[in-house]
Amino acid sequence: MIIRKEGGLKLIPDNIIEEIKAKNDIADVISAYVTLKRSGSHMQGLCPFHSEKTPSFTVFTGTQSFYCFGCAAAGDVVTFVRRIENLDYPEALRFLAARCGVKIPEDNENGNYGIRKSRILELNREAARFFRTLLLSSDEAKAYLIKRGLRRETVNRFGLGYSGKRGYEVADHLKKLGYTEEEMHGAMLLGKSDRGMFPYFRNRVMFPIIDTAGQVIGFGGRVMDNSNPKYLNTPETPAFNKGRNLFALNFARTECQKELILCEGYMDVISMHAAGFRNAVATLGTSLTQEQARLMKRYTEKVVIAYDNDGAGRAAADRASRLLGDAGLEVRILRIKDAKDPDEYIKTFGQDAFRRLLSESETKFDFMLRNVLTKYDINTDSGKIRAASELCEQIGGIYSAVERELYTEKTAAALGLSKESLESEIKKQVRKRNTAESGNFEKRLRNKALGIGDRINPEHAANPRAAAAEEALLGIMMLHPERLSQTLGSDPPLKDEDFITTFNRRVFTALKKLYSEGTTDVGALGAEFSCEEMSRIYEMQLKREGLDSASDEVFYDNITALRSLHAEEEKDIEKLISAKLAGQSAKKEKE
Ligand code: CTP
Ligand code: MN
Repeated sequence: MIIRKEGGLKLIPDNIIEEIKAKNDIADVISAYVTLKRSGSHMQGLCPFHSEKTPSFTVFTGTQSFYCFGCAAAGDVVTFVRRIENLDYPEALRFLAARCGVKIPEDNENGNYGIRKSRILELNREAARFFRTLLLSSDEAKAYLIKRGLRRETVNRFGLGYSGKRGYEVADHLKKLGYTEEEMHGAMLLGKSDRGMFPYFRNRVMFPIIDTAGQVIGFGGRVMDNSNPKYLNTPETPAFNKGRNLFALNFARTECQKELILCEGYMDVISMHAAGFRNAVATLGTSLTQEQARLMKRYTEKVVIAYDNDGAGRAAADRASRLLGDAGLEVRILRIKDAKDPDEYIKTFGQDAFRRLLSESETKFDFMLRNVLTKYDINTDSGKIRAASELCEQIGGIYSAVERELYTEKTAAALGLSKESLESEIKKQVRKRNTAESGNFEKRLRNKALGIGDRINPEHAANPRAAAAEEALLGIMMLHPERLSQTLGSDPPLKDEDFITTFNRRVFTALKKLYSEGTTDVGALGAEFSCEEMSRIYEMQLKREGLDSASDEVFYDNITALRSLHAEEEKDIEKLISAKLAGQSAKKEKE
């Protein structure tokens, strides 16, 4: 099948899609995001798509699908990736292809996203190579890196370079290799203004940003003096998404069995790697994103935050620790003393001191406790009360009772209060959270039963019985594709018009088309349906699994039910019309 996207053709042939799915075991892929435990024939974990305390997220390895009994998220491996990584269908396929090393042939005729991206990657690689040769011939740039304490091998390892004094050097070089200015603009090596193209990086030391596939996706560039802006980073391009990548993860990903160290800056990471801490990564000039937290979770279980030793750094560490914790990572926060950042710390005190610092890194709670204690003056009553109330709120938000106990003790000791006085306050917080949660859950369940707020199939609420019959039929046809041809051959054949709700009718039409093309892989509907819609489609299929869905009786019963409901609906409409007409004629008679 050919996947079309607005504009150009997007060729991902069927056999490639099959290969991608075959090589990405669903339990494997999902395990990178969710801790799964085997339970009989399937696996279970906490749902990543809604918040819950008991696992209702289920992965069926036999059918390579997932279903959440709490929020009804459902699908195959592609749907999962679409949802969790927020990608569209072709992007999710590309993501999985990259994960297992399957090559997707690119269409060369169209300047679509895929092509431009691969072209940009080529161009970036050439640019990185050229920046290195410029560095070798620039005494000023070499002197700057030496002044920053970098050894030749570190410079080589990170592929550092120099943009040239004017910044045009790289464009001239790339032109000779056959790249156009438009393409260089696509990679954002050239900016565009009213007066034409201009070089983006001028007189800067260049840090290539390399993804886990080893591709140069963008650059960071630092000035060599005190001018501003200190750093410039490649803006978003088809190849570069700042929120989804981490600097040096290409190296760190094989060195992080124990933990990853997250820093603020390029120079921190480079110093750390040079000092033997090869598990350090940094964000790319923005604050940490949820996607980056999940990306780290793919490689490790624990992250040590090593941000700068200033107010901004501490606030950012606080925020990052939440994001990382939400992604299911164990979080520690490094406490840097007498230096502004890890780079300076290592340069001043050496790698052994840094290793000690690492081993003393604090838990999130210790870090928070210390922050709260510096925020309020606990020698005054009001300061003590505010500190206690803030800490109790935090402790109340922790799920583990053992952890709560431990932190309550610490807080009591730090504030000089009794444990008991804190406990009642914490209990209040726990109760507040529990009622809020159960309230939400019940409301969701109720609304779901009533079909209220059903964004995928808004007609569900008005036609609950019809929708149920439609969903049963569609589910059966997905599990047993031969049933579909049976309905078409039956007398009279099941028609699109027999479906009452628009969404289910769309699914039926799409299924027929899919099967007529010789595919029975429901996942291919992903080219046409959004990932929430795909979840609903899979839900229909999963609901039929294990039921007596293969029997003729169930199948034909549902067809009959649907048809009679249809007839009823028509009768209703007739009644409505005749009532209206009657009303009108009654009015007329009066006149
Ligand atoms: N940053 C940025 N733009 C700036 C300043 C900073 O994108 N104008 C990003 C860079 O990724 C930088 C990080 O924020 O690496 C941390 O900033 P900072 O602490 O100022 O830089 P350092 O990495 O410590 O750099 P250096 O030691 O070279 O001053
Ligand atoms: Mn810094």
